[in-house]
Formats: sequence, C-alpha cells, structure tokens
Amino acid sequence: MHFELSEEHLMIQQAARDFAQNELKPGVIERDEHQKFPAEQIKKLGELGFLGMMVDPKYGGAGLDTISYVLAMEELSKVDASASVVVSVNNSLVCYGLEAYGSEEQKQKYLVPLASGQKIGAFCLSEPEAGSDATMQRTTAEDKGDYYLLNGTKNWITNGGSAEYYIVIAQTDVAKGHRGINALIVEKGMPGFEVGLKENKLGIRGSDTHSLMFTDVKVPKENRIGEDGFGFKFAMKTLAGGRIGIASQALGIASGAYELALAYSKERKAFGTTISNHQAIQFKLADMATEIEAARLLCLKSAWMKDKKMDYAQASSMAKLFASETAMRTTVEAVQIHGGYGFVKEFHVERLMRDAKITQIYEGTSEIQRIVISREILK
Ligand code: CAA
Repeated sequence: MHFELSEEHLMIQQAARDFAQNELKPGVIERDEHQKFPAEQIKKLGELGFLGMMVDPKYGGAGLDTISYVLAMEELSKVDASASVVVSVNNSLVCYGLEAYGSEEQKQKYLVPLASGQKIGAFCLSEPEAGSDATMQRTTAEDKGDYYLLNGTKNWITNGGSAEYYIVIAQTDVAKGHRGINALIVEKGMPGFEVGLKENKLGIRGSDTHSLMFTDVKVPKENRIGEDGFGFKFAMKTLAGGRIGIASQALGIASGAYELALAYSKERKAFGTTISNHQAIQFKLADMATEIEAARLLCLKSAWMKDKKMDYAQASSMAKLFASETAMRTTVEAVQIHGGYGFVKEFHVERLMRDAKITQIYEGTSEIQRIVISREILK
C-alpha cells in the first residue's frame, strides 16, 4: 500500500486546479445568481478531455484512471459545483455506461461525441413518483417490434436542457418487475420529446435541471443498451460509479470551503489577535481537516477498487455518504468562521453551503447509501 500520487496524477490535479481558478472562478457568483449554465467553460473542459476522462482514446476519451477523475472532480468542485456536476454526469452516468454496456455502433455514434466533449449527455431515471424506489418506473417503453414507444415524464434531470443525448430508463414489462426495465438512448429532437421547465434550485444553480416529457417517442430498437430487461441493472451499475463522482464533488465542496475558512481565520482579527489563535476556531478547523482527509481516502479507495475491477458498490456508497455529510457539516462551519461575511455572496462559502445539500440527495440520498452499505454488510 502506498499513498503517493504519481507524476501523471499530480499533473492532472494541477491542470484541474488551474482550470478552476482561471476559468471557473471568474463569474461563478453571477452564474449562480442568474442560474446561468457554464456553457463556455464546459466546452473548454470538453476540449481538454475532462468530459470523457476514463474513456478509451479509441472512442474519443482521455484514457485516464478513476483516481484521476476523483482528483479532477475535487479541484473543479472547490470552485464551481455547478460545472463539476456536468463533468460527473457526463463521465460516470453517460460515458461509462455506454462504454461498458453499449454496442459498437452505439459507441461510434454516441460515445465518441460525448467523450470528446462535442455533445453533452444526461441520465434519466428519476420520475415525479420514482426517485429512491427506482424499480417503480412509470415511464413506459412499449415493444413495437423494431422500435419502442416511449411515454412518460422524468424529473430533476441534470443537463436536461443542454444535453443532446439522453439515457432514459423505462418500463417495458411491468409484470417482470425490475427485469422488465430497459435503458434507451434518446436524441434531442426526436418527435414527441419535449424539454420541460428549468428548476429554480437552492444550490448548483448554474447547472441545468429540467423535467422531460416523452409522448409517443419512437426509439429504434438498436438504441436499447444491453439485452432486453437489462435497464435496471444498467442503472444500478452506472450509479455505483456515479457515486464516486458525486462523493468527489462533495469532497471538493468541503475542501473548497475549508481552504477559504482557513485563510480567512488567519486574516481576521478579534479580541486582539487573528481568530485562528482562538481555540474555538482551531477546533473547528481540526475537525474539518480530519473529516475531509477521511472523505478523500474513501473517494480514492473506491476509485482504486473500480480501477482494479473489484466490486466497488459498497465502497462508493460509503464514500458518497461520508463525503456528502462532511460537505454539509464543513460548509456550515465555514460560514460560521466567516461570521457576517460568510452570509454574503462575495465570500463564496454561502454558495458552497447551498451546493453541498444536493450531494446528500442526488444519485441516491444518504438513506439509500445506508441501504446499499447495510445490505452488503448483512448479506
Ligand atoms: N450492480 C449490479 N446489480 C445490482 C446492483 C449493483 N450495484 N444493485 C442492485 N442490483 C441488482 C440486484 O442484484 C437485483 O438483481 P437480481 O434480482 O437479479 O438479484 C436487482 O438489481 C434489484 O435489486 P434490489 O432488489 O436491491 O432492488 P431494490 O428495489 O431493493 O432497490 C436500491 C435497491 C439500492 C434502493 C435502488 O433502488 C437505488 O439505488 N435507488 C436509488 C436510485 C438513485 O440513485 N436515484 C438517483 C437518480 S439519478 C441522478 O440523481 C442523476 C443526476 O441527475 C445527477
């Protein structure tokens, strides 16, 4: 066992850190305020290879490992979690699923533009009445011979407006339960597919979250991923990797807030000295640093297990559970250390606190992560 990052890992970390400081930080407050999608920044991230980080170069990806992905996600999320969620969804929920389970034709047609950053993808599982209980899909994909007839509504879809390709999970045969579910690739512009209203959110306000409506959309059979009935397992396997991405996003939100609080504590004076000299602040900083380090190790371990092709579903749920709870606790304390300044936008920590909350909700709530972990422990 060794805890050192390779030269290549350090270079990727530095590249993501530079990008975050030079490209994401300018305008991040305004994008949050006006709910503006970071389109230009995402385009540049795509050109640099951050949207298909782990995809084989023969399909337009950067061919890196999952450790690199964790490092990049942390650095980008320290500054702009609205941009980093686009990176996470495109890498983990869209590109990974297509590369692992898609046909060669699907990879050529869809993965290449997605991994090379020419197009953005979305993953559509949640519904108005099926979020955590993912087998209860109301969206239907009726088998019509050489196509599926897709009907239903999806909710809270990240990249909902800006994506071009959507992986949609839908029920084909309700009698078969989770074995009757399929994953279909839907293209923007297919007749009957409509993008609904954009959500006005508490956090990650720069990201583009929409409901989607499907009315008699004809999806060709060749757009089904995997065998008939593989859709639920596809979603579970994809989400297990996605949780590494969101855990790393939470880690970045926490470490971004911690770094700001640490710097502020060394400048701000109260009672005749900098507040970093007061034990009340020192204890907060010590707790933040300790929890962030533990979260980072869980993220890296789950990434390492994925790269080693081990079963990492429990490890990624542990990373997501702990990192997202750390993000929430740390950002609340970062606001507290900043006092009144923490409550205003220019100091960034209030945004990080709002952004932290979603990491406890999407890609499975903290309660869902506890279900996944406890089932593994008890089986
Ligand atoms: N890998 C492979 N197969 C898996 C699996 C995994 N990680 N997890 C479950 N399965 C399989 C099971 O083995 C089982 O198959 P068999 O019957 O053949 O044995 C099948 O899937 C059903 O599993 P369960 O009986 O465990 O299913 P369940 O109904 O009890 O649900 C759950 C399990 C963990 C609660 C699951 O429903 C779940 O993860 N829910 C949360 C969904 C979620 O994360 N939603 C977020 C939406 S996506 C999003 O947020 C994206 C975004 O925009 C950012």
